[in-house]
Amino acid sequence: MKEEYLCRQATTADIPTLVSRRRMFEEIASSRGVVCSKSRLDAFEQRYADYLQTHMKLGTVAAWVVEDTDTIVAGGTVSFLPWPPGLGEGPAALFHSLFTAPECRRRAIARRITETAIRFCKDAGSDWMLLGASDVGRPLYESLGFTPASTMMRLPLRWQTRIVTSCLRPLSPLRLKSRPRLPTPPITQTAKPCIA
Ligand SMILES: CC(C)(COP(=O)(O)OP(=O)(O)OC[C@H]1O[C@@H](n2cnc3c(N)ncnc32)[C@H](O)[C@@H]1OP(=O)(O)O)[C@@H](O)C(=O)NCCC(=O)NCCS
Repeated sequence: MKEEYLCRQATTADIPTLVSRRRMFEEIASSRGVVCSKSRLDAFEQRYADYLQTHMKLGTVAAWVVEDTDTIVAGGTVSFLPWPPGLGEGPAALFHSLFTAPECRRRAIARRITETAIRFCKDAGSDWMLLGASDVGRPLYESLGFTPASTMMRLPLRWQTRIVTSCLRPLSPLRLKSRPRLPTPPITQTAKPCIA
């Protein structure tokens, strides 16, 4: 990485740049063959700017940007989530919006932002960090020690469903019916309760 690149914590003055998370969505969606409409991205940009404005002031969001001679070329953000209390004590940290301008990639810029965010979350007392990885982001996260959290499940309720049905052939009721069903195991008194 060039010496003159500066990685610094973002302020609310950087919000117009941080909303370039839009570009991250566009790029990830297009790599999956999905096109996000301009109106949806515009609406998102406004909501995200409002979100950052509120939460950066509250201290529940921290973001970092990397500059190359006055131009911001990358950013990444942590949101401390109002997660229900668990066995740990620290705030749950969601790392998101990692984006490096295409012309500056593979210079360890995203690595530097991610490492900075990890240190910040440790110092804030978080017990763990959570993220949703894109295909190109996954090798970076793995190299920093992130592992899949396979107990999480997701049910698309609205937004995702519309996109999925527009690009994938939906399962017809006939195909659903013809799927073989596994026998339901009997519920016995000896079954142990599941503690999440
Ligand atoms: C993912 C992204 C942020 C990486 O940015 P970057 O500044 O190029 O990343 P770095 O140079 O710090 O790369 C660190 C490591 O990540 C991995 N990596 C980065 N880009 C990769 C790619 N295109 N393919 C495979 N591995 C990649 C490599 O292990 C790399 O280390 P190496 O160069 O020593 O092999 C950038 O490609 C990007 O903005 N992509 C679009 C948005 C996105 O997917 N964001 C992540 C959301 S989870």
